[in-house]
Amino acid sequence: MGEAGQCVVIEQDGPLALVVIDHPPVNATSVAVRAQLLQAFAQIDADASVQAIVLAAAGRTFVAGADIREFDFPTQDPHLRDVVQAIEHVGKPVVAALHGTTLGGGCEIALACHARVIDAQGKIGLPEVKLGLLPGAGGTQRLPRLVGVMAALDMITSGRMVSAKEALALGLVDQVVATDLRDAAKEKALSLIGQPIRRTSDLPAPSCVPSDCDAFVKSVQQKLRGQIAPLKATEMVMLSSTTPFAEAIRLESEAFEGLKHSAQSKAMRHVFFAERAVGHHPDLKGITTDPFTSISVVGAGMMGSGISVAALDAGLSVTMVEANADALEKGMARIRGLYERAIKSGRISQAVMDERLARLTATHDLGALAHQPLVIEAIYENQQAKKDLLQRLDEVMDAAGILASNTSYIDINLLAASTQRPDRFLGLHFFSPAHVMRLLEVVRGDATSPQTLARALALGKQLNKLAVMVGVCEGFVGNRILTRFWDACTFMVEDGTPPQEIDAAFERFGMAMGPFAVQDLAGLDISYAMRQRLAAQRQPHERVPVLVDRLVEQGRLGQKNGQGWYRYEAGKRQVDPVVSDLVTAHAGDAVRLSAEAIIARGRAAMVNEAAKILQEGIVPRASDIDLVKINGYGFPVWRGGVMFEAMQFGLEAVLAEAHKIAQDYGVTWEVSDALIEAVRTQKGFA
Ligand code: 3HC
Repeated sequence: MGEAGQCVVIEQDGPLALVVIDHPPVNATSVAVRAQLLQAFAQIDADASVQAIVLAAAGRTFVAGADIREFDFPTQDPHLRDVVQAIEHVGKPVVAALHGTTLGGGCEIALACHARVIDAQGKIGLPEVKLGLLPGAGGTQRLPRLVGVMAALDMITSGRMVSAKEALALGLVDQVVATDLRDAAKEKALSLIGQPIRRTSDLPAPSCVPSDCDAFVKSVQQKLRGQIAPLKATEMVMLSSTTPFAEAIRLESEAFEGLKHSAQSKAMRHVFFAERAVGHHPDLKGITTDPFTSISVVGAGMMGSGISVAALDAGLSVTMVEANADALEKGMARIRGLYERAIKSGRISQAVMDERLARLTATHDLGALAHQPLVIEAIYENQQAKKDLLQRLDEVMDAAGILASNTSYIDINLLAASTQRPDRFLGLHFFSPAHVMRLLEVVRGDATSPQTLARALALGKQLNKLAVMVGVCEGFVGNRILTRFWDACTFMVEDGTPPQEIDAAFERFGMAMGPFAVQDLAGLDISYAMRQRLAAQRQPHERVPVLVDRLVEQGRLGQKNGQGWYRYEAGKRQVDPVVSDLVTAHAGDAVRLSAEAIIARGRAAMVNEAAKILQEGIVPRASDIDLVKINGYGFPVWRGGVMFEAMQFGLEAVLAEAHKIAQDYGVTWEVSDALIEAVRTQKGFA
């Protein structure tokens, strides 16, 4: 921003005016930008010496959207839609020069210009649905006029950015520029002088095949279960083919205002800012790190091969080590299979697969890891086996190398002690499938150095993961809360509520899968083994879920052998009368909970544990916990995460429920002081 709040600058160049928006960091259309843009275009329109206009932005990007921070307050005039309208109706050609990420309101400004040129590296999109919104400054009406209804529906309901090349193919931009963007935009503007102005809103209404649109709506309903913005956006886009522009714009603006005040949008805006805050750690401030060009993974199982693919996809070289020849071949086959499927579905080409596989070295030889900058052990979950391996790796590796464990439960400090490099040792907890799941828990041991942590967080970014730094505790953040949640759900079953009713309640709540379906997917033997491991530390009077252990003892391991909490036939989950009988026999005087009571109990169990996690300083922010649950455990993003949702629901009510279940279940997971403190002060939950 220039002197005295100036964020829009006009430079005259012969018959051209260059209007530059300069409002760091991302040129968001804050009220000052809107007001100054309006004023700049009015001034130029009245200036007879100007015959054409180029609209560009300074810094790293063209406008990345409306200023999200303003959405919590009443909108100040002028509204973005009026600014956009004014730009479109200027009486001289306006060319948008787009670079960086042209998003949301930025894209809507571009759509209202009379031509668009984009830098070859630029990207453009309407990501409003990711904030629980829809484009509110004409995007739902102008985009389909340029690219057609179906392409507009795809872009707007997914919120995805398209590359410059795709934008050109769609007809969204007029030219892709590999040289100087502003020079190209000026040339384009000069060429338009004296030509009829092409206003997007004047283009013919796009046609829409009703059956295609209906099928699209159904697919959105299925894919984005529970979210209101994509459906509302679909409705608005479809108006473009039936309703006059001015009327459709009025309806779009009404719909936008409604969504802006919705609980879903508030929750998703919370998630947006939570993601921006998650990497902020005062003790890591100012540490700069070199990006990794290669990493190594030990273990070629599901996790090892998934981590390898994540790194290959991000352009890194990978050395994958596995002692067992059979397992190594299986791991390689798994990786090849993943890429072959990606080719079949059109996501990558054969050439891309070949290039990625050429960066992969598979070997039995630990000696190959001597000079590697980062080695991640990803063998099976056994403390002694991991300790032995880490000791050997420590001996093989250069002193500067970082060593990490992909354990999901084991104490990182214990593992660190088996190496001579506790400062360069940490946990990197990937989630399965590791090449798909966005969450990465970066586990900070007591001795892990800030430099090591900074490198690990940077690696997360390189791998396109959401890296959340967590401290050491049983199960870290995600699995620790999950254990309490699963225990509470199993107690509900043991007391008489069928598992399928509990799953249905949480799926209606918006979770991707209910707790029992997830347990079956993960394998019931995993949590069984964990309970066995922790048995010695348990208080004698502590209630432990027993029904799930009965299932395991009967050989019901979950999806992997076709029976667990459910029976699986041709991959479809079905209620199994054997389990229903077991529940009835166990529950005796059954208490069948309502869906509301099921949610209340599950929520209280999760939030109580989360409050302890905060109190212990395992994470510095409640919002970090929200990100873990959303990105690793299928918590609905449109509810803002477990902590945000509890805050909206009312912490007093959550606390009362936590007290109730502690009493009913006679559990020793006492109602946390932290939760009581949070209710009192409302701190740590924002
Ligand atoms: N409003 C306010 N602040 C924003 C913002 C926005 N639209 N976009 C980014 N910022 C802020 C971030 O909070 C961050 O601030 P911080 O440094 O204080 O944490 C800073 O700008 C830099 O952002 P990132 O750390 O995210 O930088 P990246 O380079 O990683 O990403 C980006 C840049 C791709 C532009 C990413 O920030 C982004 O996706 N922004 C949101 C884009 C968006 O959703 N636009 C639509 C807004 S809604 C809209 O336009 C409504 C309209 O239809 C009326």
